[in-house]
Amino acid sequence: MEKRIQDAAQTIRKTCGDAEIGVILGSGLGEYTQALQNSKVLPYTKIPGFPASTVIGHAGEWHTGLLHGKRVAMMRGRFHYYEGYSLQDVTLPVRVMQALGVKTLIITNAAGGVNTEFSPGDLMVITDCINMTGVSPLFGPNLDAFGPRFPDMSKAFDPELRALALECGVANGVTLREGVYAQMSGPSYETPAEIRMLRVLGADAVGMSTVPEVIVARHGGQRVLGISCITNMAAGILEQPLNHEEVMETGEKAKDAFRALLDSVIAKL
Ligand code: HPA
Repeated sequence: MEKRIQDAAQTIRKTCGDAEIGVILGSGLGEYTQALQNSKVLPYTKIPGFPASTVIGHAGEWHTGLLHGKRVAMMRGRFHYYEGYSLQDVTLPVRVMQALGVKTLIITNAAGGVNTEFSPGDLMVITDCINMTGVSPLFGPNLDAFGPRFPDMSKAFDPELRALALECGVANGVTLREGVYAQMSGPSYETPAEIRMLRVLGADAVGMSTVPEVIVARHGGQRVLGISCITNMAAGILEQPLNHEEVMETGEKAKDAFRALLDSVIAKL
């Protein structure tokens, strides 16, 4: 595993260079790579060990450039457990970011609103997460060079970064929600009964990504900020079926607010 991480990092370093901040862009949010100046792009197909991204709305490109004078690496497209990859594959890019010097990781996603106060288009600062997949990217031998066998998850989402995001939301007129993100394995959307269960368990939003990335980020000592774009109300809340097109469309509508928020957060990091 360590060689695989170093090989991928070496290839990225040659074309794109190192970075101090990393951003994982969720469904419908990939255009944010345009914010980068002097950016260098590498398709995932050119990075050794990277799986191919198979989901519409996930382009599969690594972008590194400057934003507010900081070196920022952005992943346009991520890997999901439901695509059939191991969680080591899913989280390989986070390990690579650690090898490239990324200390702060901003993880974004599209999510269904479980909290009935939410509306599609809302942005939610993730306060905590629930792993409903039953698996962990840390299964197997511990990578001692990256972190401890039993990493602490009591502040999975950095309190200072959360406060900064809320401040930036106010400054930019972007209304922000806060809440707990639960990851289900997918790829089918949840049943209404599962959504009622998640609500009882304390979830405000549900999605099919993010939790393994946060676990690996925390294992490797990175600070994490998580932002969900609530693209739809979760199953059973409204009298309508769920579909990926709606998720992509709402992501598109929220992109200006998303960009304003991320720009001002990154400026203040
Ligand atoms: N459920 C799971 N994942 C999602 C959803 C949802 O309702 N919306 C966007 N990603």
